[in-house]
Amino acid sequence: MAKEKIQFEVNGKHVRLEVEPDELLIDVLRDHLGLKGTKAGCRAGECGACSVILNDKVVTSCLIPAMKADGGKIKTVEGLETDGELHPLQKAFVEKGAIQCGFCTPGMLLSAKSLLDQNPHPTIEEIKVAISGVLCRCTGYQKIIHAIDYASKATPSKEA
Ligand code: FES
Ligand code: FES
Repeated sequence: MAKEKIQFEVNGKHVRLEVEPDELLIDVLRDHLGLKGTKAGCRAGECGACSVILNDKVVTSCLIPAMKADGGKIKTVEGLETDGELHPLQKAFVEKGAIQCGFCTPGMLLSAKSLLDQNPHPTIEEIKVAISGVLCRCTGYQKIIHAIDYASKATPSKEA
């Protein structure tokens, strides 16, 4: 199959590349662009480990052909920090012990960022709904929910 030329913005950087027509966004991010923070879990849309923000929405990058991201804007976990400073959500996850093995953490952080961008002061129920697409095998979720609630009260920056 002939490769297709695509371009998009990822973490504020413009990239152009050639992909197979059936190549998935997760593989382009991890293998072409070296953004290994996007985790490959089930590869079936069920675990949320591969979640990224595409055009302001959280998507499971294992289900999306890279060509669908053509012309779009993507945020991965690598794009959360600013000038070496962790995003308030990242700081809250560390401070509140919301990380164990860390496999779910990128998907959790991006789901939380998307929520806070749209709803800076969510209720606990809204936080639970926002992270419901990401499975965590380690924490029991309570510390993750607490960390997001804590970060929301510190009014994290929308632009970071
Ligand atoms: S790896 Fe994409 S949802 Fe599990
Ligand atoms: S911290 Fe291990 S899966 Fe969530």
